[in-house]
Amino acid sequence: MLSREDNEILVRTGPGMPMGALLRRYWMPVVNASELEPGGRVKRVQILGERLVAHRTPGGRPGLVAEFCPHRGASLYYGRNEDGGMRCAYHGWKLGLDGTCVDMPNEPAESNFAAKVRTTAYPCVERGGVVWAWMGAGAPAPLPELEWTTLPLDHVFASKRVQDCNWFQAMEGGIDSSHISFLHSPLDHQDFSVTEALDRASFGVGAAVNTGDRAPRFEVVDTDYGVLIGARRTNPDGQWYWRITQYLFPFYTMPPVGVGEDVVQSHIWVPMDDTHVVNWMVTWHTKRPLTREEIALHIEGKGAHVCDYAPATSDPYGDVRTAANRDNDYQMDWDVHRTKMYCGIPGFGVQDQAIQESQGDVVDRTQERLGTSDTAIIQVRKRLLAAARALRDHGAAPPGQHAESFCVRSASLVLPPGADWVEPAKPLVLVRPTQTLTLV
Ligand code: FES
Ligand SMILES: [Fe+2]
Repeated sequence: MLSREDNEILVRTGPGMPMGALLRRYWMPVVNASELEPGGRVKRVQILGERLVAHRTPGGRPGLVAEFCPHRGASLYYGRNEDGGMRCAYHGWKLGLDGTCVDMPNEPAESNFAAKVRTTAYPCVERGGVVWAWMGAGAPAPLPELEWTTLPLDHVFASKRVQDCNWFQAMEGGIDSSHISFLHSPLDHQDFSVTEALDRASFGVGAAVNTGDRAPRFEVVDTDYGVLIGARRTNPDGQWYWRITQYLFPFYTMPPVGVGEDVVQSHIWVPMDDTHVVNWMVTWHTKRPLTREEIALHIEGKGAHVCDYAPATSDPYGDVRTAANRDNDYQMDWDVHRTKMYCGIPGFGVQDQAIQESQGDVVDRTQERLGTSDTAIIQVRKRLLAAARALRDHGAAPPGQHAESFCVRSASLVLPPGADWVEPAKPLVLVRPTQTLTLV
């Protein structure tokens, strides 16, 4: 349970809000780099409550500018994509990549009005096949060295989709490791052929469910970049099966990979506004390119990606709204629900979306009743609340100042009963042998 004040801090991300200010101190993923053609069609996006237009100049530079023209508010979505910036289609004002008005052709040549006009524009960079924006004041921090952003592009598959709920309850679903034994399980918790058909591209979930232990014990460790989360289940042979989830500031979660598995996955939960979130899903092979067959499984929804979209619109992220949604009961198969699966919604990713949206637009955390299985969620809330308050009250630097500390993975390991899990986990979760895990 949270106080109303704490809940409000967690969920409000617009300009001027404490969480909005904190999130603006981290790089934001905007679009897949492949979505922006040089000089081509632009895309509407919405991030942290701001309507923006993502574009790529004919010369290839990505840009992110406020959607509505500073002159009289026309949408730059209809504008002209030129070298040096976007030109409004209404009266030809041109807004540079840095937000300055670089041309005002409908004013007399002797006018210096253009020099007095600015709009919002954010610096962008490209890394890992994604365009990232710095929406904060001041000089940008270094981009976090997430492993997948350092690999060749063919090792990585990234998709995204909109969910109609607050960012924080969606992210809590990415931290909560106990729900897989229910939401993503066969009805009898035994006939795994039912869920294996859905799990061909999602790694490690089946093994955890197969332990039959539905009440994992949680331990959390604070790190400089976030929280290392251990969820322990007891295998039928008595060994302890630890699934290790990563939380990285401010909005990255990594569900556990299977034991010895070289494919890692991460969600990024980017608030569009306070009742919509872009759920990025990134899958990468640490050693080789993903095969065409592997990517096809993701696109078919045989894992945590959801790439079956409703007909596209040009609204912000209007091309990544899922075909399965609240209006059609997420394509629930009620017969399967009754006879075979805990939840008859086809696909792990849609199951998560359905349940997170079912909590309402914004969860009222003054009413919840948390158990021991919510330990990790409680810890992540504490860290984010502390960081938001420290920034608001003292201007304290947000956690995660070292780009290299983000170069971590999730993991799973089997240990004897009673053994410590943190030391054995370190070589699995640290990507580079030279790294150390900084506990705080
Ligand atoms: S509204 Fe954009 S130039 Fe007039
Ligand atoms: Fe899930």
